[in-house]
Amino acid sequence: MITGYGHFAQLAESLQWDETTIDLSTDIESWTELEDTEYDQILGLIAGFCIGETSVATHLTSFRAAASTDDMMAEVFAAQARDEARHARFFDRVVREVCGVPGENLTERVDALRDRISTELVELFEERLPAIARGLADSDEELTTAVGLYHMILEGVVLTAGQHALLDALEKLSVPMPGMRKGMELVLRDERWHIGFGSRVIQSADLVDNDLEKILNEGSKAAWAWGDLISSKDIEKVDQLHKRRLKSVGIKFW
Ligand SMILES: [Fe+2]
Ligand SMILES: [Fe+2]
Repeated sequence: MITGYGHFAQLAESLQWDETTIDLSTDIESWTELEDTEYDQILGLIAGFCIGETSVATHLTSFRAAASTDDMMAEVFAAQARDEARHARFFDRVVREVCGVPGENLTERVDALRDRISTELVELFEERLPAIARGLADSDEELTTAVGLYHMILEGVVLTAGQHALLDALEKLSVPMPGMRKGMELVLRDERWHIGFGSRVIQSADLVDNDLEKILNEGSKAAWAWGDLISSKDIEKVDQLHKRRLKSVGIKFW
């Protein structure tokens, strides 16, 4: 059995950042100058992150509880949950301060943004993930199956595709958005170790080819949930990455 989760706990500790210190003042000025297509793409992606990060931050608690036989693994899930909560707060800051989305709290602001997100994306985060997390609490589902959905598909494919698309869109804007870019880069840095950690959990488990094939196929489909917010070229790129990642954890049918 491959262990070594302590490395991820150390990494998490060394990569902490504070979402409240990111300067969004230039972004706030630039926001009103966006063209309609830029506005729709960026707000759509941010809306997806708000839903996604809020959901993952909530449901990681079940993962931590399910890892109770391995204290270090449980500690890493807790460190990851702390990151996800920070990501949700960062994107909420963006929708509130930069995009000016109304609402008393994150839930109300997310509701105001719902019509910008596809039902497929909402379903992945608000139905599939909670269902698998509930299964963990009832001990019906294996932790590795849940990690397969969360770390390999939702983080490794869906959120990664959106994050790269946002960085790409910010780069091409006619106006600067340095605060949003900085926060997105820091989120992406955290997500890299989350996915690395998930890959390690999968690798340590005795998954059969059939389980891995399911993760492979579902991942390949899942990135399309963003609809036209992401180009098919970017989706292909993330799909290749997903396949390479699964190959490296031991999928054998190439
Ligand atoms: Fe996250
Ligand atoms: Fe994450």
